[in-house]
Amino acid sequence: MYRSLYIDALKGKKGERPPVWYMRQAGRVLPDYQKLRKKHSFEDIMNQPEKAADVTLMPVKALGVDASILFNDILSVPVALGMELVWTDHGPQFLKPLCCEDDIHHLFHPNLSKLNHVYETLDIVKKRSDVPTIGFCGAPLTTLCYMLQGTSVKHDFPDAKKFFYARPQETCYLIDMLTDICIEYALKQIEHGIDAFQLFDTHAGIIPLELYEASFLPAVKKIATAVRSHNIPFIYFPKGVGTGLSLMTPEVCDFVSIDWQTSLSRAREMVHQDVGLQGNIDPFLLFSSKEEIESIMRKDYVPFFQNHNKWIVNLGHGVMADTPIENLLFLTEWIKDKTNWW
Ligand code: CP3
Repeated sequence: MYRSLYIDALKGKKGERPPVWYMRQAGRVLPDYQKLRKKHSFEDIMNQPEKAADVTLMPVKALGVDASILFNDILSVPVALGMELVWTDHGPQFLKPLCCEDDIHHLFHPNLSKLNHVYETLDIVKKRSDVPTIGFCGAPLTTLCYMLQGTSVKHDFPDAKKFFYARPQETCYLIDMLTDICIEYALKQIEHGIDAFQLFDTHAGIIPLELYEASFLPAVKKIATAVRSHNIPFIYFPKGVGTGLSLMTPEVCDFVSIDWQTSLSRAREMVHQDVGLQGNIDPFLLFSSKEEIESIMRKDYVPFFQNHNKWIVNLGHGVMADTPIENLLFLTEWIKDKTNWW
C-alpha cells in the first residue's frame, strides 16, 4: 500500500526525514509550465481541467515533492461571486474594486458552478496520481484585500484598510459572506478527494493584531471547524502575523505555516504545542550558492527536525518565478536524502 510521509507528518508521526512541498510550486518556476504559458493564458490553463491537472502534478515529477497543490488561484472565489477580474502583467486587477462602491449589499451574484472546473481538475489529479493533494482557498482578510483594493500593486492595501475602519458593518457582512462561500468551496474540494486543506492568509499582517483577532480570526476558526469535521487536516498560513502566532491553538488549525521573517524555533515557543509547523525557508535563499543552502539547512533546520515532531518543510512564502531551478532541485534532493537528517 502507498505510504505517505506527508500524511504521516500531518498525523504527528515522525519519519526518517521531514516531508517537503513548496508554496507556488505549481507553475511559475517550472520550465514545462513556462512552455505552456507561451501558448496559453494563465486563466485558460486554470479553467481547463486537463491542463490544470497537468500543472498540479508537474512539480511531483519535476521536483519530487511529497504533495501536490491544486493549480488554481485564491481569486477564483470573488470571480464566482460575480466580480470581473483581469490578469495583467502586473498581477490581478478587479475592474470594479469594492472600495469605490457605495452599496456593497446588492453587488454579488454567487454562482458556485463557476468553480466546477476545480472539482474536475481534482478528479483528474486523483485518477493520475496517488501523491497527496492539497486543496486551498484564500482567507476572508486576504481575499478582501484584493476585492476592496482591486490590485496588489499597492502592497499595503491602503483602500482596503480604510474600508475596514470606515465601514465596519459592511466589513462584517463581507467577512460572513466570504466565510460561507469558502466553507462550501472547501467541502466540495473534500468531496473531490483532497487530502489536506490550506487557508492562505498572505496579508494577515497588514492590520493591528487586535483587529485581526476580533474581526478576522473567528472566520478562520469557522472554516477550520467545517474542514476538520470531515477529518481533513487544516493548515493555516497567516503571513506576517508576528506575535499573533500565540493565538494559533488547536481550535484554529492543525498546522500553521510560518513565514520567513519568523525564527522557526521561536515560532515553536509561541504556537500551541499540539499544533504542527510548516515552513519556513526564505525563498531568496534559493538565489544563493548550493554550499550556502546546505549550510543553512544544517545549521537551522536539521537541529529543529531532531528536536521536534510535527514539521513539514516548506518555504516561508512562495517560490519566485525567477528562482534558479537547479537550486530548487538541489534543495529538494538534499531534503529527501534521509542521511542528512541524522
Ligand atoms: O503552487 C501553486 O502556485 C498553486 C496554485 C496557486 C496560485 N496562486 C497560482 C498562480 C496558489 C495556491 C495561489 C495562491 C494565491 N494567489 C495567493 C496566496 C499565496 C501567496 O502566494 O501569497 C495570492 C495572494 C494570490 C493572488 C495572485 N495570484 C497574485 C497577486 C498573482 C500575481 C503575482 C504572482 O504571484 O505571480 C497571482 C498569479 C498566479 N497565481 C500565478 C500562478 C501560477 C502566475 C500566473 C502566470 O503568470 O502564469
